[in-house]
Amino acid sequence: MALLKIARMGHPVLKLPANPVEDPKSAEIAQLIEDMIETMVDAGGTGLAAPQVHMPLRVVVFTVYPERDEAEGGDGSGVPLTVLINPEIEPLSEEKALGWEGCLSIPGMMGEVPRYTHIRYKALDLNGKPFEREAHGFHARVVQHECDHLDGILYPGRIVDMSTFGFSDEMMRQRDRETDWEED
Ligand code: NI
Repeated sequence: MALLKIARMGHPVLKLPANPVEDPKSAEIAQLIEDMIETMVDAGGTGLAAPQVHMPLRVVVFTVYPERDEAEGGDGSGVPLTVLINPEIEPLSEEKALGWEGCLSIPGMMGEVPRYTHIRYKALDLNGKPFEREAHGFHARVVQHECDHLDGILYPGRIVDMSTFGFSDEMMRQRDRETDWEED
């Protein structure tokens, strides 16, 4: 087990399309996945893509904790720890919704990003077996954010209204002030 160094925005590995995994059952991929999970949990992230740890491969790990699911308007069931190898996303509706996103590669910042609200995704699992799932809401958002990393896209590139992009602590403070004003 090892904690991996997380690449930050500006590093070329985050801008390039990642390569498909050719042997999902190899010991190298198993080790990479184990280290990615440890790194994600240590960093307090909800997801991590291999390019973020300097590996240009199509591998994603993510989980949606029940509390977060509920806070984001889901039914609170969350999503168990999931490994996606060579994932593909298909939108099941044209509808998009705005939601707040952050990224371990852009620490301390957040922004409002439009994402498809209903998708189907297919991938190979940890054992190299194909599976597919439908996802709504925050679950769908996380998968789109992580899979964007595999195409060299970071969330600021998806922001439509750049006035929503900024330092998280500053924006939280601003939001608290606005709430105070409403109460006064
Ligand atoms: Ni990210």
